[in-house]
Amino acid sequence: MKRRVAILISGRGSNMAALIDAAKAADFPAEIVAVISNRADAAGLQKAAASGIATVVIESKPFGKDRAGFEAVLQRSLEQHKVDLICLGGFMRLFTAEFVQRWYGKMLNIHPSLLPSFPGLDPHGQALQAGVKLSGATVHFVIPETDAGPIVMQGAVMVGDDDTPETLSQRILGIEHRIYPEALRLLASGKLRLEGNVCQVAGGTDRDGTLISPLTV
Ligand code: GAR
Repeated sequence: MKRRVAILISGRGSNMAALIDAAKAADFPAEIVAVISNRADAAGLQKAAASGIATVVIESKPFGKDRAGFEAVLQRSLEQHKVDLICLGGFMRLFTAEFVQRWYGKMLNIHPSLLPSFPGLDPHGQALQAGVKLSGATVHFVIPETDAGPIVMQGAVMVGDDDTPETLSQRILGIEHRIYPEALRLLASGKLRLEGNVCQVAGGTDRDGTLISPLTV
């Protein structure tokens, strides 16, 4: 039985599109049953509809600071679509601890930095400001703190002296589109084990491969 997934978006939806694409494979262990946006103008909604996925808009603005009120409507929609797992794809709205607790171990987020470095806004600018030589993207389970929680998968890119937030974000986005479907595959096929704040992959993983930056020879 494929796990039923809802993707929550607020904007462009390129990670959403990567997940929808991956889930088209017959052997992918999850199906995308709904795309839910908290903004009616999210560009991702049209892409989702074009792929034949049910789309739902629950405008969060009218709820103001009433997070629980927004989440009650969201939860009803998730139940209507019989959702097992949630993927956040650029979903720019914070959850209450209660909602996060309810979905603990079943809700993933992606963030364009090597967490725990550079959570929050402008991670690419933060990375350049810090002068790191490697940055990347992280898929993690959602906990009440923003851009934190057990890490499922990370991918790294080299950072060059001439990088700008735009060039870095483009390169990292390519990594995001590769690791998010893989992380969802692991979760949906029951291969992830959570032990406290640490997530492990059942059966272990290959640990060969090194990335050194800058490469000077
Ligand atoms: C992605 O880069 C994602 O990692 C980031 O928002 C972008 C959404 O793009 N998420 C965060 O910064 C979460 N804190 P997309 O709509 O094209 O997937």
